[in-house]
Amino acid sequence: MSTAPAHLLEELEPVVAQNLDRHLGLAQEWHPHDYVPWSEGRDFAAMGGEDWAPEQSRLSEVGKAAMITNLLTEDNLPSYHREIATRFGRDGAWGTWVGRWTAEENRHGIAMRDYLVVTRGVDPVELERARMDYMTSGYDSGDKTPLEAVTYVSFQELATRVSHRNTGKVTGDPVADKLLARISKDENLHMVFYRNIVEAALKIAPDATMRAIADEVIGFEMPGATMAGFRRNSMMIAKAGVYDLRLHHDEVIAPILKYWNVDGLTGLGPEGEKAREELATFMAGLDEQATRFVDRRAESRARTAARSESGETPDIAS
Ligand SMILES: [Fe+2]
Ligand SMILES: [Fe+2]
Repeated sequence: MSTAPAHLLEELEPVVAQNLDRHLGLAQEWHPHDYVPWSEGRDFAAMGGEDWAPEQSRLSEVGKAAMITNLLTEDNLPSYHREIATRFGRDGAWGTWVGRWTAEENRHGIAMRDYLVVTRGVDPVELERARMDYMTSGYDSGDKTPLEAVTYVSFQELATRVSHRNTGKVTGDPVADKLLARISKDENLHMVFYRNIVEAALKIAPDATMRAIADEVIGFEMPGATMAGFRRNSMMIAKAGVYDLRLHHDEVIAPILKYWNVDGLTGLGPEGEKAREELATFMAGLDEQATRFVDRRAESRARTAARSESGETPDIAS
């Protein structure tokens, strides 16, 4: 294993300061209340109104599953704050970034919850219980080093961007679509910040950074993976094309690796070369797996379409 220099975080500090300025210059102020149709809101039973019932939701099943998964993922922000605050520290530009990033992320959960409760998109009781469970267990990335953490979040922010954007599309609701498009713009800027830090780390410590990249790509898991119902929901989300292996390969991992010029980098030592080879092997396998998944999904969709044309009940489980 190639170890990163002990002072890597300090060496990266000027790059962090520069990218923090860049971020603050590009980030646009926005307000959750501007994205929520408040006139649709009404009291629940405790206030003399009516409690939630499934027929009140205008969201499709997959729209609901994706919204819940994305919102609960956002809800676990205290855990992510802890993850990055302990890795990156609270001083200087790193510390300012940690605070700013946390404040921006919190807006995502606020806006999505307001939208879902006001429009009665999902059961608010189920949502609150799920939030309590998920936040109580929290998220723990394990023993990631700062370098591994910054590499992981580069991919994770882009994954979140793709997931929010495509969730907006499947909701079939222009209001949700607009809100999630707004959130995904933030996620993209977050990705750019982290991606630029890793780009600088590749120059300072190429072998250790290549090792971190290979490890984080090979072991990548969404932060929501420990959420109750995640497997079921992520299957639905993949079948609907909100987030699947093809998107993970083509729109998340590959573009970032290309940006870092992982294939063309020169000056790697034997450890960096070994990591790069492992990464290339993994990416080829991921690509094949993604192709198989998309083929199977197309077959399954064709079968469902044929059945519904012939008047049979569509097999929603396939
Ligand atoms: Fe977010
Ligand atoms: Fe983000």
